[in-house]
Amino acid sequence: MSQNIPPANGVTRRGFLSSSGTLLGAAAIGTLAIDRVAFAQGSSELKIALIGCGGRGSGAANQALNVPGTRLVAVADAFPDRLNSSLNNLKEQHGAKVDVPAERQFVGLDGYKQAIALADVCILATPPGFRPLHFEEAVRQGKNIFMEKPVATDAAGIRRVLAAAEIAKQKNLKVGVGLQRHHQAGYLETIKRLHDGAIGDIHSLRVYWNDGGVWNYPREAVAKMLGHEPTEIEYQMKNWYYFNWLCGDHINEQHIHNLDVGCWVKNGYPVRARGLGGRQVRTEKQYGEIFDHHAVEYQFADGSWMFSQCRHIRGAWSSVSEYAQGSKGQCDISGHMIKPSSGDAWRFRSDKQVDPYQQEHFDLFEAIRSNTAYNEAFNGAKSTMTAILGRMATYSGTEVTWDEALNSKVVLTPDDYDHLTFNSKVKSLPDSEGRYAIAVPGNSEWRKRIV
Ligand SMILES: NC(=O)c1ccc[n+]([C@@H]2O[C@H](COP(=O)([O-])OP(=O)(O)OC[C@H]3O[C@@H](n4cnc5c(N)ncnc54)[C@H](O)[C@@H]3O)[C@@H](O)[C@H]2O)c1
Repeated sequence: MSQNIPPANGVTRRGFLSSSGTLLGAAAIGTLAIDRVAFAQGSSELKIALIGCGGRGSGAANQALNVPGTRLVAVADAFPDRLNSSLNNLKEQHGAKVDVPAERQFVGLDGYKQAIALADVCILATPPGFRPLHFEEAVRQGKNIFMEKPVATDAAGIRRVLAAAEIAKQKNLKVGVGLQRHHQAGYLETIKRLHDGAIGDIHSLRVYWNDGGVWNYPREAVAKMLGHEPTEIEYQMKNWYYFNWLCGDHINEQHIHNLDVGCWVKNGYPVRARGLGGRQVRTEKQYGEIFDHHAVEYQFADGSWMFSQCRHIRGAWSSVSEYAQGSKGQCDISGHMIKPSSGDAWRFRSDKQVDPYQQEHFDLFEAIRSNTAYNEAFNGAKSTMTAILGRMATYSGTEVTWDEALNSKVVLTPDDYDHLTFNSKVKSLPDSEGRYAIAVPGNSEWRKRIV
C-alpha cells in the first residue's frame, strides 16, 4: 500500500507532490518541476502496454503517460472499435508519447500476449473475468503491472491471482491494483487515525454502493457495433456487466471499493458472511443473470461486523460511502471525519487535492524506478474475494465461510478459458425466450452452483 512506500532516493512522495504543485488533471501534470524530480532519480524510459482499451483502461493509460519518462508502445483489445477510439483520444492528449503503429495494435482474444511482450509496464483493464489469465501472463513474462479491480470473478480466479502474486513477489515485480482509495490522502489520513485508536475498538462498519446502474446494449446494437450477428460470447462480452464469469455481479465490480475500505480499517478480511439479495426492479432479460440488490453482514475474526449494501435501482436512496463505529466514537470514513465520544471532532482538510487515479500511477512508477517492494495484488485478491464471498451468501441465501468460499470448486469461466475464441461455449446460456437463469436463494441445488 502506498502509505508504506519509503522515499525514493531521498525524494518523499509529499516532496514529489509539493514540488509539482496542486495536480488536478492532465493539463497540470508533466510540468518542468515533475520532470526534474523524476529524471533526477536517474530513471530511464518505461514502455507501457494497454490491455483493454475501454473507459478505465484509456483513463489509466492517460495517467501512466502523465508520469514523466513513459511511452505507450502497444495496445490490445478484443474489439477494433474500442482500440481505435482509445488510441485516438490518447494521441490527442499525449502526442508523440503515444507511439503505437499498426503492427503494435492487437485485436482479438490472444493479442494480450504480444502486447505484454513489448512493455515494461502492463495496464490490465479488461472486464475482470480475464484478469487472472492476463495477470498470470504478465507475471510469467516478468513485467511490472497495473491491474484494475476486481481481479477475478470466482474463487478459482482468486487462487490463480494469489499464486501469480507470489511469483511476482519472488521476481521483484511491482504490482498496482486500481483500488485508488489507498492512494487518496483523505482516506490515508483518516484510516491511519482509526488504526491509531481515534475511536477505540471498531465493532462495526457500514459500507454502501447504492446507485442507478450502468449501460446495456441490446443484441441489435451489438450486431451493429460488430458488423455481424454476435456469437453468444461476443454478446456477453459487450454486455459484460450482466454476466458473472465476466463481472462477478455489481457487488464485485463496484462495491469492492467500499468492502476493501472496511477490510483496510479492520486490517483483515471477513471469516463469514450471510445476506439477502435479488432482482426486484431490473428484471428484464437484457440484464443477464445479476441481482439488482444485495445486503450482506460480514463478520471478522474478532467478532466485529461489516454491514454492506449495494443496489442498482434508479430513484432509490443513493450512497457510495463507508462509516465505522467504535467503542470511543464514530467515523465517516469517506467524508474523512472523526467524531470521538469526547473531545473535538476532526476533519481532513487539504488545499492540495491530488486525483487518486493519478496518484496510484505516481506511486507505482516511483516504486519501479526506486526498486522499492510494491505488490498490491494480495490485498486486491482478498478484497475481491470478500465481494465474491458476499455474492455467494446472497445468491445461496445461506451463511458462507471465508474458507469454504476461497476453496470453492465452482468455476464460472468457460472450460477453454485459457484459449478462448469468439466461438467458445459460455456456461450461462439464454433459454428460448432469451432469459438467463437467476440464482434462487435457499435452493440447495443452486447452492452447489454458487459456493
Ligand atoms: N478503479 C475504478 O474506480 C474503476 C472505474 C471503472 C472501471 N474499473 C475497472 O476497469 C475494468 C474495465 O472497466 P471499463 O469501465 O473500462 O470497461 P469497458 O467495457 O469500457 O472496457 C473494457 C475493455 O476491455 C476490452 N476487452 C474485453 N475483453 C477483452 C479481452 N479478453 N482482451 C482484450 N480486451 C478485452 C473491451 O473490448 C473494452 O474495450 C473493470 O475491471 C472495471 O471494474 C475501475
